Amino acid sequence: MTQPAAVTEDIRARLVPFPKPHFLSSADLDPPSVEALLDLADLFVDLNRQGGRTLDLLAGRTVVNLFFENSTRTSASFEIAAKRLGADVSSLQAQASSVAKGETLIDTAATLNAMKPDVLVVRHSGSGAAALLSQKVGCAVVNAGDGRHEHPTQALLDMLTMRRAFGDVSNLTVAICGDVGHSRVARSNVALLQMMGARVRLVGPPTLMPSEARRWGCEVHHDMREGLSGCDVVMMLRLQLERMEGALVPSTREYFRFWGLDREKLAHAAPGVRVMHPGPMNRGVEIDSDIADDPDISLIQDQVEMGVAARMAVLAALVTRREEEAGR
Ligand code: NCD
Repeated sequence: MTQPAAVTEDIRARLVPFPKPHFLSSADLDPPSVEALLDLADLFVDLNRQGGRTLDLLAGRTVVNLFFENSTRTSASFEIAAKRLGADVSSLQAQASSVAKGETLIDTAATLNAMKPDVLVVRHSGSGAAALLSQKVGCAVVNAGDGRHEHPTQALLDMLTMRRAFGDVSNLTVAICGDVGHSRVARSNVALLQMMGARVRLVGPPTLMPSEARRWGCEVHHDMREGLSGCDVVMMLRLQLERMEGALVPSTREYFRFWGLDREKLAHAAPGVRVMHPGPMNRGVEIDSDIADDPDISLIQDQVEMGVAARMAVLAALVTRREEEAGR
């Protein structure tokens, strides 16, 4: 069932064109466009909660999801977002060839481009893959994670989650903890949080902290209790063993002891602290189930819900920009 025409018209009137032709990194946004996308996403949250009904904002448009890496929530989230907007969706799980990744990517992109999609959502293990692809195709490209580089829709959905929980993100202190070095989620979040005025701390073992971390303008801590002290939000990261060459942590048991989030360590944060995790979680490695499942503390399920709404806003704004450009 589709939403009544009046609802679609109301949303159409509030649509803002995306500031850039593609969404490759957090730096493609600026503070006014972040606020506008979050306002739009808030509307989509309300509509999604009413259940079932789709909009016809993207009727006749085609969104292709091209995932060269495993994904559950991100690919499902983009697929649901596109369908809720009335788009035709095609989702492809491609296996990344370790030999000729670049060639595979460009060949596949050329093939898909010939089918004239409006938006191509891509996840690939190579940092810069989405940017490369955006130069080869005629449609809008959304980066759904490129290696350890960026995952900008995750940062946007995280900000939507924080804005709804706290009202304003500009006076928050956010600690991003754990395997920062391998995390595209961390890079996109640092950039977006700083853009919107929040203070960001990076907390983790020296072996998992990128050498350039201090240049990002964050405080860097190698002690959990110290790093969490007075924080409003604790964002835990997955220990990304698949991206590690050699052993950077002694054992997962040791890791939990020093870097795993439990009640004792969390007690050092500010009163009313909320905990986030982009998923998938390694319970008992970077986070204790006791925290992850506590509805008064954990925002993890909210993040999944906000993911659909934030991606609906991104897709709608990218298509709006294309329509405006085509009409000019
Ligand atoms: C993250 C990713 O794939 O970058 N997950 C996600 O998109 N929800 C984080 C991770 O894999 O740990």
